Parts: sequence; C-alpha cells; structure tokens
Amino acid sequence: SVPQLQNTLRHAYTIKRRSEPWLVPQGSLSKKESKNLKLPPQSLFNKTIALLFSKRSTRTRLAAETSATLLGGRALFLGKEDIQLGVNESARDSARVIGGMCQGIFARVGDHSEIEELAQHSPVPVLNALSSLWHPTQILADLLTLHEHAYLFTGELAPEKPSKQLPELRPLTIAYVGDANNILNDMLVTYPRLGHQLRVASPPQYRAPAEVWKRVEELGCDKAIWWGEDPREAVKGADVVVTDTWISMGQEAEKAQRLKDFEGYQVTEELCREGGANPNWQFLHCLPRKPQEVNDEVFYGPRSLVFPEADNRKWTIMALFDNLFGKWSLDGTADQK
Ligand code: CP
Ligand code: NVA
Repeated sequence: SVPQLQNTLRHAYTIKRRSEPWLVPQGSLSKKESKNLKLPPQSLFNKTIALLFSKRSTRTRLAAETSATLLGGRALFLGKEDIQLGVNESARDSARVIGGMCQGIFARVGDHSEIEELAQHSPVPVLNALSSLWHPTQILADLLTLHEHAYLFTGELAPEKPSKQLPELRPLTIAYVGDANNILNDMLVTYPRLGHQLRVASPPQYRAPAEVWKRVEELGCDKAIWWGEDPREAVKGADVVVTDTWISMGQEAEKAQRLKDFEGYQVTEELCREGGANPNWQFLHCLPRKPQEVNDEVFYGPRSLVFPEADNRKWTIMALFDNLFGKWSLDGTADQK
C-alpha cells in the first residue's frame, strides 16, 4: 500500500543516514563522529536470509548480502547451480526446507508463478528479488533517489548537508522509453498512486501483459498514464527519463529481433531536446546497462542519477529486510517498534 511504501522509504532514508558512517574508514572520522556512531538495528542478529536466485545479479545480491551483515545477520546465496531446486526437487519442497532453517527468502525467479508458489509453501516471508512481471525492490531505490535529489526539480541548490528527514518530492512527469518489461510494470502501478504522471513509449507489439494492466486499472493508475509509440512524444515535459535494457534476462534468443524493433528508442540528448523534455530532466536506469538503450553522453553525463540509484538498492533492501525479516513474528504481524 502507499503508506507502507512511504514508511519503507522513510525507514531506508533514516537507516542510510545512520549506517553510512560505518562504511568509511574508521580512522578518517573525527573523535566526535566516532563517538556518535550508532549501529543500525540488529534485527537479523543470529538470523539467516536465503537468497534464492535462479538468475544473475550484481546489485540485488550485493545489496542483500551487505545489508544482512549491517543488520547483524547473514545472507546465504543459493544460486541455481548450487541446490536441488529445479533439477531434483520441487519449489514446494524447497520452500518448506529452506524456510525451516532460514528466517526469510529473497527470491529471483523466471516466471512470476514461481515466486507465488514459493510464497504459498514457505513458512517464512518471501520477498521478490525480480520476476518476469515485477521488480518491486527497484522502484523503492528509484524513489529514494528521486526524493534525495528533490532540489533538482525545484531549481534549488543542493543542500550542504542531507536533511534529517526524507525530502519531499513535487509531482513529476516521468517518461519511460523502451521495452515494456518488469521495471516498467512496477512504475505503472506505483508512480500514479504517488501523484506523478507517467508517459510511456514502446513499439506497438510491446505492451504490458493483461495481468499487469488489470492491476493498473484496479488501482486507478491508468488515468495518469499516457502510452504511445513515439519516444519524442513520450518525453514531452518530462522531469525524469527512464529506460532499461531491450533484452531482459531470458530473452537472449530474441536479441536480433528486439534490436530491430527498438531502433529509434535510444535515449539521447537530441531525443529529449526535440521532444520537449524539461531542460533540467534527470536520467534513471536500474542497470545493468547495454549501450543500445541509452548513449554514453546521457548515461555518464551530469543528468544521470544511475550510480546513486544503484547505491540506494542497498538502503531500500536493508529497510525491507529489517521490517519484513527482522521484525516479523509468527502471528503474521511486523513489530514496528
Ligand atoms: N538492478 C538490478 O536488479 O541489478 P542486478 O540484476 O545486478 O541485481
Ligand atoms: N528488465 C531487466 C532488469 C534487470 C535488473 C531484466 O529482467 O533482466
């Protein structure tokens, strides 16, 4: 829900402020700073979170492993070559066994039904680390990044010190240019509920699957979404331009066709100038990036927030781990103290 999402964002922001000093060499802190060092919540003390990943990952895996460490626990990486799942054992049995020894499961799967099945049979909470339909932890990192850079959208100067509380974000126009994939799906069901307008351009044969669109309509998000074919039209008035790879994990065999279909959809300065984006538009990409969907000028340029966005995978996943796995209790409620 929106309040839960906002709580998680605020929690991620606070946890980041509190934990960042632990990441710098301790010798470089002043006496006062060293004295003021506070541990993040140790809610995973003595706990293990299973990272059940059937696909590759850099950011999500790093964020999960380093977050578990800071929360006083451990993340156990179980790649598809490591365990019996999918070869000698069913998802149902694996969920029960892993959940019998770990206190949470963070799962990256192929088809979305696989995570539904894990969740149905796991005795402990299951969190989606990416599926064919959704990538919910990514949108949290994107939102945290936009909030932290809220001053860019009001024309103010960057604050000298980060504020104590999560900065407010004004309603934005957010454009997505490229493949209608799991990243876009989460944007469709999230941004409109937070008061932002979404403008999407993708080739006509690439559209959100029926189950995603059903959810978009149920949530009343469709009213804030413009969807067309022309990337220039999509970026009209955009404060933020987002894209993702045209070839998601598992679609490698479609590469040649996709490169042809997405010709003309590369995010460039020229495209956004011609399309009439806000002259101060900012760029987001979940990574990993391939060179086709955005050129180097934008990707490595001053508008690009992609690396702060990648860093924020950690703080948002840490906030989720703390709330979902650390404070979870058997009666199904999370202790919010
Ligand atoms: N953005 C993201 O999920 O990256 P990884 O696939 O490297 O985890
Ligand atoms: N759409 C991409 C996102 C990777 C983080 C994929 O599913 O491969």
